[in-house]
Amino acid sequence: GRLLFVFSMIALLMAGCEEPAKSVLDPQGSTGEEQLTLIKISIYIMAFVFAVVMVIFIYVLIRYRQKPGDDSIPEQVEGSTKLELLWTVIPIILLAILAVPTVATTFSLAEKPSEEEEALTVKVTAHQYWWEFEYEDYGFKTAQELHIPKDKKVYLKLTSRDVIHSFWVPALGGKTDLNPGQTNTMTIDAKKVGTYEGRCAELCGAGHALMNFEVVVDEEQKFDQWVAQRQEPSSQPQTAAQERGEEVFSQNCMSCHAIDGAELERKGNKAPNLTGFGERDKIAGVLENNDENLEKWLKHPDKVKPGSYMPSFDFLNEKDMKSLKAYLQSLE
Ligand code: CUA
Repeated sequence: GRLLFVFSMIALLMAGCEEPAKSVLDPQGSTGEEQLTLIKISIYIMAFVFAVVMVIFIYVLIRYRQKPGDDSIPEQVEGSTKLELLWTVIPIILLAILAVPTVATTFSLAEKPSEEEEALTVKVTAHQYWWEFEYEDYGFKTAQELHIPKDKKVYLKLTSRDVIHSFWVPALGGKTDLNPGQTNTMTIDAKKVGTYEGRCAELCGAGHALMNFEVVVDEEQKFDQWVAQRQEPSSQPQTAAQERGEEVFSQNCMSCHAIDGAELERKGNKAPNLTGFGERDKIAGVLENNDENLEKWLKHPDKVKPGSYMPSFDFLNEKDMKSLKAYLQSLE
């Protein structure tokens, strides 16, 4: 009874969080659910093995303990074909029970959804230390925020530009490696609207721990609006400051960053595409997107995200810095 009480209190505490789930133990999509089933199978098997071993251990401890006044050496036994067969065969059976559903699920999750499912295809390219999302069906790229519609299969084509990374959204599924020169695939979906945290789950360098991204799940209609906005972005400066900011951007940033729909052709692809930057939740996947943080990032990216390839723009004068920020924040 008391144990049940403790568990229900924990459940209550966890349920109290307004934030969408961030845990593999509370999946929000079918991929996450299937992976949780696998986790449960392995936990049950481990618990069973642990219990059996403990029972035998305690039994042996008590049954064969040294008794008072008995200093003789116990009977020495060496080799027992029966026992050795037993403790070889049982683990093989347990591993098979684990392996069959794991391999089957891994392959089925990598499969391309059927035509009827009308899946959305997104090409995910990992870079040190950021994420690129290319919507092949719609012909645009974005970074750091993966927007998907609710209740729709999303077919991910995962690859890397540099080293091995791993795509992981605890509440939706993962961890699938992104390897340079190779494409791995995985299908995910989300049953609930919300923002889910994503992580890189493979040590990839100094910035690994901060290689975060977000999955934004919207109702289909809202997602379609977002797509339309990305296809027709508003990237034209409206004020004098923004105009100056655009110039500063052209001189300093556009060899690496692209902004779709801007006056000058900006096709830099070494760094995140910044179209619609003003609407993003986060800067570089880690800082709240506000004026102060943007300056912090522009001036000392390496302090925010160690190992980042983004150079410091500490040399810009105050006016140019202000203009650049105004321009970036105006991008919708
Ligand atoms: Cu990318 Cu760790």
